[in-house]
Amino acid sequence: MITTIAVLGAGQMGNGIAHVFGQCGYQVLLYDISDKQLTKALTSIENNLQRQAKKGSIPLELVSQTMERITTTVQMQELARADFAVEAVTEIEALKLELFRQLDRIIKPDAYLASNTSSIPITRIAAATCRPEKVIGMHFMNPVPVMGLVEVIRGHATSDETFQVTSELVEKLGKELAVSQDYPGFIVNRILIPMINEAIFALYEGIASVEDIDKGMKLGTNQPMGPLTLADFIGLDTVLAIANVLYDGFKDPKYRPCPLLVKMVNAGHLGKKAGKGFYSYP
Ligand code: CAA
Repeated sequence: MITTIAVLGAGQMGNGIAHVFGQCGYQVLLYDISDKQLTKALTSIENNLQRQAKKGSIPLELVSQTMERITTTVQMQELARADFAVEAVTEIEALKLELFRQLDRIIKPDAYLASNTSSIPITRIAAATCRPEKVIGMHFMNPVPVMGLVEVIRGHATSDETFQVTSELVEKLGKELAVSQDYPGFIVNRILIPMINEAIFALYEGIASVEDIDKGMKLGTNQPMGPLTLADFIGLDTVLAIANVLYDGFKDPKYRPCPLLVKMVNAGHLGKKAGKGFYSYP
């Protein structure tokens, strides 16, 4: 039975993942190398829970109950007792592979290991461990507490049992799953990132202004955010990293990242988190 979840990485995705597991009754061990990041994550989780309680979407007492279920640590050793781990560290392949190697040595042998990667092959991550059949992709969408989908990616060696356990967890979180084979970008990013990249090309080629491109797609196709706003929200460095994964993975020029996207990332205009992207966030 799965009762304790380890979450590795306390950034935007990691704190959202810890939030939803805690809210749904699981004991959560939230790990990061930085104490400061863990403190920041706990503040975000509490603020987001308060926001949900204020709106009446969760009872007020669930705020403190959820917070009590989340324990933070900078010692990976403490994840040993977890039944299921979800990794959500920065999208750097070497970092993820090393983390899975370490986790595989530490965590109990029957535990399952999931990665929230948006783009790195699950099969490659699984091959870094001695339990590839217990490794799976669990790709949450941002903001995690709000979005109803988790993409579940089966690596080459992922067992039916691991898939079953993961599917049940997604359902317990009250979310839907979309199942993808392990190819670059999976489902969502394979379609979303080329759309955002095309919006950036439209700007680059002087087709329209930032505002009109976003208005066109937001009001014209009923999306909650225009593609350039969404790019700022995701982070332009992440958009570029995923675009490069598609480009390298398929060797097809249709996935080439727009030069303007590359230039903005070089300038450090990474979107909302940097205070500046296609829009300014004072
Ligand atoms: N935690 C908890 N609740 C949150 C939240 C958070 N972090 N962020 C927003 N909310 C809640 C708000 O309280 C509000 O609740 P009610 O509906 O009960 O009122 C609701 O979400 C809507 O929020 P807002 O009113 O503040 O703002 P909004 O209506 O503009 O919605 C949004 C914000 C939910 C982010 C919406 O704009 C949206 O859905 N945008 C698209 C997001 C998207 O496409 N995400 C996927 C990105 S791709 C990805 O994640 C994959 C990848 O690998 C890159």
